[in-house]
Amino acid sequence: MRSPLFWLAWVFVVERCAEQALARTWDEAYEVSRNVVGQMTLDEKLGLLIGTGQLNGNRRCVGDTTAIPRLGIPSICLQDGPTGLRLVRNVTGWPSGINAAATFSKRLIRARGRAMGEEFRGKGVHVHLGPAVDIMRNPKGGRAWESFGPDPYLNGEGAYETIMGVQSVGVQACVKHLIGNTQEHWRYGYSANIDDRTQHEIYFYPFLRSIEANVASVMCAYNRFNGTSSCHHDGLMGDGGILRKAGFKGYVVSDWGATHDSAAENANSGLEMEQPGDNIVIGGGVFRGGLKNAVNRGEVSQQRLSEMVVRILAPYYFLDQDSPDFPPVNFDAQKRDGSGPKNLRVNVRSEEHTALAREIASASAVLIKNNRTTTTGTPTGVTTRGLPISRDRIKNVAVIGQDAKQLNQNCGEMGECNDGTMVVGWGSGSHSFEFVIPPVEAITSYLGNSASITTSLSNDLNAAANAARGKDVAFVFVNAASGELALYTVVHGNMGDRNDLDLWWKGGSLIERVAAVCNNTIVVVHSVGPVYLNWSNHPNITGIIYAGAPGEQTGPSIVDVMFGRYNPSGKLPFSIADNEAAYGTKIVYNSLGFPEIDFTEKLLLDYRYMDEMNIRPRFEFGYGLSYTTFAYSSLSIQRSGASHVVSFDVQNAGAFAGAEKPQLYLSYPASAGEPKKVLRGFEEADLAPGATARVTITLSERDMSIWDVPSQKYVRPTGRFEVLVGSSSLDIRLRGSIDVSIMDEPILVVS
Ligand SMILES: *[C@@H]1O[C@H](CO)[C@@H](O)[C@H](O)[C@H]1NC(C)=O
Ligand SMILES: *[C@@H]1O[C@H](CO)[C@@H](O)[C@H](O)[C@H]1NC(C)=O
Ligand SMILES: *[C@@H]1O[C@H](CO)[C@@H](O)[C@H](O)[C@H]1NC(C)=O
Ligand SMILES: *[C@@H]1O[C@H](CO)[C@@H](O)[C@H](O)[C@H]1NC(C)=O
Ligand SMILES: *[C@@H]1O[C@H](CO)[C@@H](O)[C@H](O)[C@H]1NC(C)=O
Ligand SMILES: *[C@@H]1O[C@H](CO)[C@@H](O)[C@H](O)[C@H]1NC(C)=O
Repeated sequence: MRSPLFWLAWVFVVERCAEQALARTWDEAYEVSRNVVGQMTLDEKLGLLIGTGQLNGNRRCVGDTTAIPRLGIPSICLQDGPTGLRLVRNVTGWPSGINAAATFSKRLIRARGRAMGEEFRGKGVHVHLGPAVDIMRNPKGGRAWESFGPDPYLNGEGAYETIMGVQSVGVQACVKHLIGNTQEHWRYGYSANIDDRTQHEIYFYPFLRSIEANVASVMCAYNRFNGTSSCHHDGLMGDGGILRKAGFKGYVVSDWGATHDSAAENANSGLEMEQPGDNIVIGGGVFRGGLKNAVNRGEVSQQRLSEMVVRILAPYYFLDQDSPDFPPVNFDAQKRDGSGPKNLRVNVRSEEHTALAREIASASAVLIKNNRTTTTGTPTGVTTRGLPISRDRIKNVAVIGQDAKQLNQNCGEMGECNDGTMVVGWGSGSHSFEFVIPPVEAITSYLGNSASITTSLSNDLNAAANAARGKDVAFVFVNAASGELALYTVVHGNMGDRNDLDLWWKGGSLIERVAAVCNNTIVVVHSVGPVYLNWSNHPNITGIIYAGAPGEQTGPSIVDVMFGRYNPSGKLPFSIADNEAAYGTKIVYNSLGFPEIDFTEKLLLDYRYMDEMNIRPRFEFGYGLSYTTFAYSSLSIQRSGASHVVSFDVQNAGAFAGAEKPQLYLSYPASAGEPKKVLRGFEEADLAPGATARVTITLSERDMSIWDVPSQKYVRPTGRFEVLVGSSSLDIRLRGSIDVSIMDEPILVVS
């Protein structure tokens, strides 16, 4: 047997090697790129800037460039999307971005990114079209589930960890969509009008964190920003624009068909690559139609043209994609059934990936109600009602709701799959549903012959009541979904954005009917975002789990949580209120032509708005229960250079092993004009019963700064900051403060 020291050393060496996978620095990558581009003809350069075309029958990926064999440069393959490979078989269907956020675990978000990266690499994909960091400005926003919710800090960490994971295995990440892409209605042209401070502190912040993770690429959005097409907005992407000023080293690629107006306008404002290359009705085909002429006419300089190509190839070299180990593309996205000679049917799934997808799904399940009673009346007794369920105590079980059953797996990703369990929303952020294990199957397989199971999987109210009446436990599964607006998709009456915050398929009535006849009703909500839960106080509803959009391992992951094999530790990445007005923003559904959307709520989204308006939501941002309880104590705050190190103890004060996700909120001095409190840190503490961990969160100077419009920099205000540490945004357990005086310097932080 090896000594523990040996293994420590071994892990250290392996981790060092993993870090050294990034063999080239940006400078070195740029040097190689410049040399190679220096040998290219004009047409070869254009081939890297312009996608080969949506209508091109030879296309392998959702986006490709033209190869240059004489220089050893392959066709660069760009593929959807943020929850795993789309239009491809034998891949893992990962939990959604909003579920990754609900884990409040940087460790798991990074592991998810890395595992996704391994699958993209295994299929020969150069560019993973993710993560999405579109802020959930309104809870009904159709694609918000692809990203990390309404909070910029949580989106920033989600982006950072995902990109670090994806790129650690040599796959480029492409963070999207720059900027203000927050609703699906009118998305091909509405204008997101955002003031400078809000833009930096809310919508750009996750891009800033992406740049700090060395992101390879940024995708510009369909919508306009401040009246100008996002893909030729000089203030966003130009040399003096915020992206380059923040140190972005990669290239900007258009969303598919998001380019408009002249080739010169786009090239000179900072767009590098146009995809898919041709005009696809909504836009596009700008470079293909005009870039060569614009160069020949001198409207785009030779220097800019070369710079565009150099920027596209630099990440390719930065991540060593020129290595002979990098697999060639081995699938055909145009034949998603896996047929045809170009689909080499490579299986990139693995037991490790399946286990990780299941773990993340369990870790993202948020326990929002648990009225547990036990045989002894103490926590250590066997459960009689509520969670976790003891298999030995239940003999008659009902499984209710169409959300418990298998979905139509052959429906494509555009939404027609909504007849069964909801695992992710629809559109290009979706994935193949090949391996979904629905809840009813997982429950049946777990219980085996130990209980008799009655099912009612149609949402018929009378049938549900008949199935549930007098059972030891009734599981009710309900859902609500949303997705991407394509020109033709209307799903259950919803065009991308949800119409309202109600559960679909009369889910609320279904729950109430079941609860009227079964005094141990356990509800599982599968939803892309907040939904009304006005029945949550019903005395017969003994447990509610908000499970989000958990991906293919939905069934096994929820069984693990319900039967106590996984102690829930998820936290809500948004607040759940009882009415839409509590969120303070609106989706613009009706308009005569593309609307102007003024982001007048500024910094006040979700809990920040509710704090300001004294609205107490039903369940708040950051909230989530465990089967155990945690005690907080011993807050200390120490200055360390320009940073402040906040540390405190978290103790597992209950009877089960479990993980807490402590959160740090900051209250600025009033003069700063910030919301009452803002998230600025979170950690995880995984603890045996009785155990205590010292948790440390470092507040950098920027974490304590605001975007100062006149100086165009982050500036730390002076005055008293309150440090609030707790278990949710409303359950603050420890308070401290930091005084920043005018004498504290330096005051200016990075731009
Ligand atoms: C967008 O417009 C707002 C004013 O409406 C302004 O504060 C901001 O600087 C503009 N942003 C850019 C990048 O032009
Ligand atoms: C999936 O992988 C298996 C091997 O694990 C292979 O037999 C099958 O052909 C693959 N199918 C597709 C469509 O890739
Ligand atoms: C929990 O259930 C008990 C009955 O078992 C009831 O007396 C109590 O009010 C319930 N508590 C909550 C918070 O629903
Ligand atoms: C719940 O209902 C069962 C019968 O279905 C009954 O035996 C039990 O006493 C009830 N428990 C409570 C706390 O109401
Ligand atoms: C709770 O369930 C019992 C059946 O176990 C039923 O008799 C009772 O009316 C239910 N309570 C409510 C408030 O619906
Ligand atoms: C919940 O709200 C719906 C309307 O959205 C209403 O029909 C229902 O009666 C409400 N239930 C409760 C328990 O308030």
